[in-house]
Amino acid sequence: MDTNQEQATLWNGIAGRAWVDKKDVLDHLFQPVTALLLEEVCACAPTDVLDIGCGTGAATLALSQRLRGHGHVTGIDISATMIATANTHADADADASFICADAQTHAFTPASYDVLMSRFGVMFFEDPVSAFRNLRTAATAQAKLRLAAWRSPAENPFMTMAEQAAAPFLPPAPARAASAPGQFGFADGQRVQTILEQSGWQHIEIRAIDLLLTMPEQHLQDYFTRMGQLGRVLDQLDESTRQQIITAVRAAFAPFVHGDEVRFTAACWLIRADAASAT
Ligand SMILES: C[S@@+](CC[C@H](N)C(=O)[O-])C[C@H]1O[C@@H](n2cnc3c(N)ncnc32)[C@H](O)[C@@H]1O
Repeated sequence: MDTNQEQATLWNGIAGRAWVDKKDVLDHLFQPVTALLLEEVCACAPTDVLDIGCGTGAATLALSQRLRGHGHVTGIDISATMIATANTHADADADASFICADAQTHAFTPASYDVLMSRFGVMFFEDPVSAFRNLRTAATAQAKLRLAAWRSPAENPFMTMAEQAAAPFLPPAPARAASAPGQFGFADGQRVQTILEQSGWQHIEIRAIDLLLTMPEQHLQDYFTRMGQLGRVLDQLDESTRQQIITAVRAAFAPFVHGDEVRFTAACWLIRADAASAT
């Protein structure tokens, strides 16, 4: 089983460095997800928001700017590397702050947030039921949960393309359980429903959302050589194998390239729940 310690090592190491280095590309790419989430959160008229697995803080800071003067946003993340970058971008933003901690076990001040949100930061817990139970202790009685997570790999071919095209050049990867912590840890909507029910959340709604994401074509190679599974192994290979993989993967991405732009559909879940029943 992947432990939170393994996730901490990953996100403080190679994955965290890639997200920091490619922050601008990723924040542009995921802007439609941020926009959707901010609409959802702002509709709740929040005063204290927690951004779970906030990474380098794009959604945290975008929301704090939207709420300016009318609410505080706290980002929590297990990666010191990513929180350091978030703090750098926060500058003198008095309405945003960051905590470097494991959201599954962190001793939150009870009942301190009226909205808990996340842009792709909740699929990595070793024990999701205990994580969402812990997060519920941080929620006020009327608090709302608003999350974006990936649907299945089959519905997100852009996200699996690099790994698939590189596979013939690499040793076979060990099989992973479909629900293992990771990008697709919340792919099964029924499982997400059960996790939230078992951790005490109510009025759960899990809605499939398809969003068009784009990035300039000039960033594509950088993207697939740094991100995901391929980004984690490429540097360990000899130069000739590296080049063969880059050529094969770039060719495989051709269907997503339209002139100087890369476009694909992100198949996501928009997850809503309440901390308590509205009685
Ligand atoms: C895919 S990244 C998303 C980051 C950010 N939400 C964004 O959209 O840019 C997932 C994030 O979850 C964080 N994470 C993973 N496990 C965590 C845990 N147990 N507690 C807090 N953060 C965690 C990682 O460090 C990483 O920053």
